Amino acid sequence: MPANSVIGLQWGDEGKGKIVDLLARNADYVVRYHGGNNAGHTVVLGNKRFFFRLTPSGIFHKKTKAIIANGVVLDPEVLITEMDILKKEGLNLKNKLFISPRCHLILPYHKELDIAYENARGKNKLGTTRRGIGPAYSDKVSYNGIRVYDLLDWNSFTVLFRFQAKIKNKILKTFGVKPINIDSALTLLKKQRTRLLPFIKDSFEILNDAVSKKKNILFEGAHGIMLDLDWSPYPFATASNTVIGGINTGSGLPVKSIDSVIGIVKAFTSRVGEGPLPTELHGRLADAIRERGAEYGTTTGRPRRIGWLDLESVRFSCKINNVAEIVITKLDILSGLLELKICTGYMLNGKFVHYADCGYKELAKVKPVYRTFPGWIEDISEIRKFSSLPKECRNYLNFIKKFLGVKIKFVSVGAERNANVKM
Ligand code: GDP
Ligand code: IMO
Ligand code: MG
Repeated sequence: MPANSVIGLQWGDEGKGKIVDLLARNADYVVRYHGGNNAGHTVVLGNKRFFFRLTPSGIFHKKTKAIIANGVVLDPEVLITEMDILKKEGLNLKNKLFISPRCHLILPYHKELDIAYENARGKNKLGTTRRGIGPAYSDKVSYNGIRVYDLLDWNSFTVLFRFQAKIKNKILKTFGVKPINIDSALTLLKKQRTRLLPFIKDSFEILNDAVSKKKNILFEGAHGIMLDLDWSPYPFATASNTVIGGINTGSGLPVKSIDSVIGIVKAFTSRVGEGPLPTELHGRLADAIRERGAEYGTTTGRPRRIGWLDLESVRFSCKINNVAEIVITKLDILSGLLELKICTGYMLNGKFVHYADCGYKELAKVKPVYRTFPGWIEDISEIRKFSSLPKECRNYLNFIKKFLGVKIKFVSVGAERNANVKM
């Protein structure tokens, strides 16, 4: 099975980083193909914790090469910080990390615009990560983007940058925000360019060549399906396609070459940012799960909103991505609860509705239909065999498997690479 992909089936932060790091042990290439440093993927190795925003999470394996493919929007400052951390860990990135020249750059004015729009929205803010993601992708779509490709020729880069920055500064002024200093931004970008130049190589040839040689490729999805630009309750979205189609447009590998889609499902729901969350919990129960699960944003540190597992939306995610196999994460966090709930459908005005029928206004009003399960008190974080899990825990997992009609590949019960229950 040469090309596999890992995607989050909920609202992000499902634990994709841990699973990608684990599965990448067999991968020749691990690939980020969409999104930017709005992602925060955690990899725990012994007593060290790494937070990857742009670097593919499988980079620690000796033979694994890491590709930042064309669909990614790239903030040079963030990538260079991660490169420095990896260097300190003793990794030689030459011939190990590749950046596509087709990646669009997140430039200083994108970050300022993201913040200005959010502040202007006031109480209707979307809760973006304020990292410039939406503004960078909208420049890409309106032919105003500047790419890694443009960094290759510094003189033409400066012309493009000055033109865009002058326009963006006018927009920032209308928001009452201080314009960016174009000259000092260029001085910094010139230094960053020098750092990035040795790593620029397009993913198209590398990946298609890898497929023909039957090499193993692992695609690392970011965010979650409920944040997809087209399939979220828009505008509570992120600016890229998180569905599996993003691999083709975002890396240049044909759809037919993707052999399997592994969906990551957290045993409950979390989300950061605004927007409807049908199974959201409030009060002491939500606080307890948040504290136990350390559910604070990897990128922004914001407390994550917490809810029961929502299988109505996860079923949609499985369908649209043709998911045959899932990994359930953070099951250990649910130990000690008297009872657990799983949402099996939505009701709106007395009728059943599906996730895909709902815009953001409907999704904010749906009443989840719940199935209640008895909880378990045992700490399960040291358990490695399905048969050793408490009966109530096995029931919870079996229900998910049956409801979704998918195979459970394994269950994660801790942040460390090997804290997994075999099925
Ligand atoms: P990602 O964005 O999907 O990669 O997820 P994040 O890294 O943002 O958030 C997941 C958090 O849960 C991180 O702190 C992980 O170290 C942690 N984690 C992942 N899997 C497990 C698990 O099975 N149990 C526990 N307790 N923590 C986990
Ligand atoms: P990982 O890969 C959780 C959310 C933001 C906000 C919305 C739009 O770590 O799972 P943006 O900055 O993308 O324009 O913000 O999307 N969001 C995420 N939430 N995990 C993520 O990534 C996210 N990436 C974006 O919180 O609600
Ligand atoms: Mg995250």
